[in-house]
Amino acid sequence: MALPRKKFIAGNFKMNTTSSEVAAYLEVFRLETDKINDIDIVLIPPFTSLTKASEILGGAQKIRLGAQNLSPEAKGAYTGEISAAMLRDLFVRYALVGHSERRRLFGESDEMVRRKLVTALKSELRPILCIGETLEERQAGQEKAILESQLRTALEGLSAEEISEVVIAYEPVWAIGTGLTATPEQAQEAHLFIRDYLGKMAGTSVANKARILYGGSVTPETARELLSQPDIDGALVGGASLDPRGFAKIVAAAVPADEK
Ligand code: PGA
Repeated sequence: MALPRKKFIAGNFKMNTTSSEVAAYLEVFRLETDKINDIDIVLIPPFTSLTKASEILGGAQKIRLGAQNLSPEAKGAYTGEISAAMLRDLFVRYALVGHSERRRLFGESDEMVRRKLVTALKSELRPILCIGETLEERQAGQEKAILESQLRTALEGLSAEEISEVVIAYEPVWAIGTGLTATPEQAQEAHLFIRDYLGKMAGTSVANKARILYGGSVTPETARELLSQPDIDGALVGGASLDPRGFAKIVAAAVPADEK
């Protein structure tokens, strides 16, 4: 029997919260999650709040930091960009790549997503690769083909070891920020498909260990049922992560029932 996968809950603040707001947030969130162990918790505030968050969290193992984006380049004349080395210097461990808002609003192609993912891996930042279909694609019955093509372009040719560093977030675009959550059954079906496809790319051992998160209008009310699905290993939470008490409830919902 494979070991159970450790649950992983990440909060993507998007373009919300100043650094002083992050300080106030952390004060509440740390208290609220004080008694919760054995869950990977990752906060993903804007770049400008990472320094403050990193100072407050220090070397704390319990809450890690992630970045919402990174440059595919290592350094140089790229005005406005932030490199992986700059993020590592702030003790950032994770980076989102391929978030649907970056794809849709900022024109990031699958190829760009891949370059960012490879840069992150080279710099020892663990990528959280976001994939997901639009409503039109789902209505046309294309969701699996889309997931497959996004995974293939991002991961093809990487070693099994590299793929094992990647956290996948299944985020149906129609569920992001809309209040529409995929049903636990819809999400489970997509997660199982992703795990099977990872198995084809990197072998069953990597696939069995891979953490696959669900994202899209997760709330304290919907989290528990989603997180109890066998192939849903965590959540990538946007709007509901902005309230530290509510987000702590989502983290608590990830604690396995027999440990409560
Ligand atoms: P949401 O965002 O929870 O506000 O739908 C999720 C995300 O974009 O990662």
